[in-house]
Amino acid sequence: MANKIAVVTGGAGGIGQAVVARLAQSGFGVCIVDQNDKAGQEFVDQLRKDKYEAEFSRIELRRAAEIKEVFETIFAKHRRIDVLVNLAGGTIHKHPIHEFPLSEWREVIDVNLKATFLCCQAVSKRMKEAKSGAIINTSSNFGITGSAGRTAYSAAKAAIIAFSKSLALEMAPYGVRVNTIAPGLTATARVLAVHTDAEWAKMSAGMPLGRAGQPRDIAEGVHFLATEDSAFMTGQLLHVNGGMVFN
Ligand SMILES: NC(=O)c1ccc[n+]([C@@H]2O[C@H](COP(=O)([O-])OP(=O)(O)OC[C@H]3O[C@@H](n4cnc5c(N)ncnc54)[C@H](O)[C@@H]3O)[C@@H](O)[C@H]2O)c1
Repeated sequence: MANKIAVVTGGAGGIGQAVVARLAQSGFGVCIVDQNDKAGQEFVDQLRKDKYEAEFSRIELRRAAEIKEVFETIFAKHRRIDVLVNLAGGTIHKHPIHEFPLSEWREVIDVNLKATFLCCQAVSKRMKEAKSGAIINTSSNFGITGSAGRTAYSAAKAAIIAFSKSLALEMAPYGVRVNTIAPGLTATARVLAVHTDAEWAKMSAGMPLGRAGQPRDIAEGVHFLATEDSAFMTGQLLHVNGGMVFN
């Protein structure tokens, strides 16, 4: 594998594939960890055909033991993880509060927030020892503005920002940077599937920059936070959202 190793959770997904491709193009060996075997393996095959270095590990991010095991396996093989991108997440659960099932609340918090904590925990000791590393966690515009019916998701995405600030302070003395990226409306299959074409056209036209984000827009932001281009940034929130939210 390449000199520097990046791990991308949710790397088989819509934004995830664009992030993986961008990091691979930049010279990282990329380890995709995702629950979607088929998409993950097919994408790795494609990347390898294009002469990039990539591998796939299946993971269920709601299971703490699996996270520990997968990250240990990656460390054992490559002896390093330079970049961790926690992208897996999102939600389809949207309910009024009195109808919100606790099981779904837990699922949203587990996949978005708890998995972010556990994956950061899995790399933190070795990044500290290496005295370098970059972690990028993923929030959302809804982590800032809230969204009616998405109480669990917006709570998780807001918590990720505060979590990342705390971890940034904890890791700064060791030269490890921790930042958060907040995509806004971004055209991935998961999001497109819950809107009609007419709704999507209206939402896109309503964006200050006149269009929805594309996965590659988010990938450029992640790449910036992963590399020395952002060497003096830690604990920051980077909005990549066409102007829909400012702070
Ligand atoms: N697309 C948007 O409009 C948008 C907006 C704001 C924030 N975001 C955030 O960006 C990130 C990526 O979003 P996306 O639209 O690319 O989503 P996506 O559904 O296309 O990709 C998510 C990936 O995560 C994986 N994943 C989900 N749960 C998992 C689990 N329990 N274990 C292992 N893997 C799991 C999925 O298999 C999938 O490959 C998410 O954190 C989402 O909240 C997206």
